[in-house]
Amino acid sequence: MSSKKLWGGRFDKATDDAVERFTESLSFDQRLWPYDIQGSMAHVRMLARQRVIPKGDAALILKGLRDIAAELKGGTFPFRSEYEDIHMNIEARLMEKIGPVGGRLHTARSRNDQVALDIRLFLREETRTLLKLLTKLRKSVVLTAERNTEVLLPGYTHLQRAQPVLLAHHLLAYYEMFRRDEARFNDLLPRINVLPLGSAALAGTTFPIDRHYVARQLGFEAVSENSLDAVSDRDFVIDFLSAASVLMMHLSRLSEEIVLWSSGEFGFIELPDAFATGSSIMPQKKNPDVAELTRGKTGRVYGSLVTLLTVMKGLPLAYNRDMQEDKEPLFDAVDTAKACVDLMSRMLPRLKVRADRMRDAAEEGFTTATDLADYLVARGMPFREAHAVAGKAVAHCLAGHKKLQDLSTDELKAYAPGIREDVREWLSVEGSASRRKSHGGTAKERVLKRLKQIRTGELD
Ligand code: ARG
Repeated sequence: MSSKKLWGGRFDKATDDAVERFTESLSFDQRLWPYDIQGSMAHVRMLARQRVIPKGDAALILKGLRDIAAELKGGTFPFRSEYEDIHMNIEARLMEKIGPVGGRLHTARSRNDQVALDIRLFLREETRTLLKLLTKLRKSVVLTAERNTEVLLPGYTHLQRAQPVLLAHHLLAYYEMFRRDEARFNDLLPRINVLPLGSAALAGTTFPIDRHYVARQLGFEAVSENSLDAVSDRDFVIDFLSAASVLMMHLSRLSEEIVLWSSGEFGFIELPDAFATGSSIMPQKKNPDVAELTRGKTGRVYGSLVTLLTVMKGLPLAYNRDMQEDKEPLFDAVDTAKACVDLMSRMLPRLKVRADRMRDAAEEGFTTATDLADYLVARGMPFREAHAVAGKAVAHCLAGHKKLQDLSTDELKAYAPGIREDVREWLSVEGSASRRKSHGGTAKERVLKRLKQIRTGELD
């Protein structure tokens, strides 16, 4: 019935049922309730302090809000979709509980600045939670790297074996990615942490409100400077979704490697039972579903980002109802990113590393051919010439089904007379990796240095 609506004054007829179903957001925005209550409490305290409403009324409203919070927490709150969204459900319930005095809560406020406030409070908390999970993930990458500073595997380009690298070095590549992800979330947090409340519907309010007092109560670092901007902007949501998309892209690449490495073809790792699933038909199967789903869910988060960008691109100032469509994609992306980061951080240290398989693979595929060329260069040959010589040696081995390491020093001398016995060390996978001492290289001493640096300065 139109008379039940909080905005029903100028309406004669009831809303069409289908329209009610189409326009409601209660089914998904109810999870904003803790922030809605928190925001309303700060607002009502400010109204009383500024003498916009009587102190006694404010006390009644605060008590009513506390009771409602208890109902919401205890699962006894009577949700009613005819009240559209969580904001009007709480306000209607307040009036049910304390009478018309509850109607003073919405003084100097609109749902437009109210919903902007709720999303900012929600996203600030979720971003902080995600940051904590990301720190855990970085720790788990470091722990796994520390356990694998002796393990060599082939590094790949084009998914072809390229040069031997330490497994610790490979894992620390992801550490660097996750560190940048964390930096991105830290960077966007202050842009979330701005108070929009007090912008009212779009133009500000005639009441003598104190927005800085509200900001202090709610822990906001700043107060928005333009009321139109504050109620109509969701770029902080897009910031979050962009950072979440990059994070998911990184998680997806790591997941892809876990899928590949746990396959029979690679056999580099074995998944812990707790993080794998079986097949309903093939009894032998142990599938990397967590990694696959992380890779797959990346699409959802990208989807959320594209949804928000598209929802916002054609909107005139200020608030438009289109913006109600920000919530489901945001909630989904938040839940997805948190779950993926959490599971990855718990799975990584439990992967069983098959160091022998990794090393065998590193021995194959002429991964030290560059080292042969470098050896010749160290003895004065121009690199291009050395590259050609090493290439010929590789071709010879290919024809004879041999590895470079299988060639005797005399056989090698046939390609370049300057070759000496010390070439053997250059052709070993250990030697290859340990000589890559350049800053950022895979040499063990470099990797250990980086690990130490991380341990002493970056992990809190
Ligand atoms: N449920 C709405 C949303 O999520 C709240 C704001 C409604 N404002 C309005 N002017 N209808 O966007």
